[in-house]
Amino acid sequence: MTDSVFIHSWAPADVLDDLRRRCVVDHFDFFEHGVMPPQELAARVAGKTAVMTLQIRIPGEVIEANAGTLKVISSISVGVDDIDVAAATRCGVQVTNTAGVLDDAVADFAMALLLAAGRRVVESDRYTRAGKFDGPSFPLFWGAPVKGETLGIVGLGRIGRQAAQRARGFGLNIVYHNRNRVPPEVEAEFDARWLPLEDLLRRARYVLLQLPLTPETTHLINADRLALMREDAYLLNVSRGPVVHEAALEEALRTRAIAGAALDVYEFEPRVSEGLRALDNVVLTSHIASADVETRHEMVRLAARNMKAVLDGAPPPNPVNRPG
Ligand code: GLV
Repeated sequence: MTDSVFIHSWAPADVLDDLRRRCVVDHFDFFEHGVMPPQELAARVAGKTAVMTLQIRIPGEVIEANAGTLKVISSISVGVDDIDVAAATRCGVQVTNTAGVLDDAVADFAMALLLAAGRRVVESDRYTRAGKFDGPSFPLFWGAPVKGETLGIVGLGRIGRQAAQRARGFGLNIVYHNRNRVPPEVEAEFDARWLPLEDLLRRARYVLLQLPLTPETTHLINADRLALMREDAYLLNVSRGPVVHEAALEEALRTRAIAGAALDVYEFEPRVSEGLRALDNVVLTSHIASADVETRHEMVRLAARNMKAVLDGAPPPNPVNRPG
C-alpha cells in the first residue's frame, strides 16, 4: 500500500518533493491558509498513514478513528502537548518530535528575554518611538543588573542547560529545580545548585521556566508561588503558557509584587489578555523562541526524517512514545 501523508505546516520544496516521490502527499500550508479548523482536520487525517504537523491539536478521537492505518504523528516541535500521546501509544501510533535542533535557538531567546526584561529594552524602544527621548538619558529606564545575580532555571533539561551555559557567560549564578537532580558532572559544569522549587523562587532574581506542559506542570506557577518571589524578580517563560496561572501573574505584575516578566507563551494562546497587554513591566513576544531561520528549516527536515523512518520500519531519530 502506498503511504499517504498529511502535512499541516510550511515545508521547503525539496522536503515536499522527496516525500512526493514515495508517498501521496496532502499538504495544507497554514502559513498561507491559517490553522485548519478542528472539524476539517479529522477528515484530512482520515485514512492517512502519517501526519506531520504543528500547532494544531490532534485529539484522541482522531487518532482512535485511524487506529490500524495511522503509523506516525511527527510533530514539528519539541513540545507534544497538542497531541494525545497516551491515545497514540494505545493505538500503536509512533509520536516523534524535534528535540535537539532547537536547543540553541530557544536558549538564545531565553537570554534575549532576560536581558529585555531586566534592562527594559522594550519600554525604552516604545519611549523612543513615541518621540519622548528629548532630554538627558541618565535618568531613563534604570533596570536590573545581570552579572552576579542568580538565575533560577525550572527544568534543567537540554534547553535549560544551554541557557545555563549562556547565563554563565553573563556572570549569572545558577540554581535549578528538576524533579530529579541532574548528574553531579552537569551541576559542576554550570556550578548549578539544586533547590526545592519554593527555595528557588525565594532566591532567584531571574526565574526561567523551561519545562514541558503536563498535568503536573499545569499552573505550577500560581498565586502562592508567585508570592514567594522577590519583589525585584523577573519571571521568564519560554516553555508553555499554562505552566503559569496567567491571571495570578497579571495581578503580581500589576501590583508590582514582582518587578517584571517576559513571556513568549500564553495560557490561552494565541489570545493574550488585555490586562497583560496594558502593563509596561512585561515583555510579550509571539511564541517565537525557536524561530531563527536555520532552526525552523531544521525542525521541518528533522520532522520529515522522523516520519520517513517510521514509514520505512526503522527507528525514528526522535521517538516520544513506545507504541506497543
Ligand atoms: C515550540 O514551542 C516547540 O515546542 O518546539
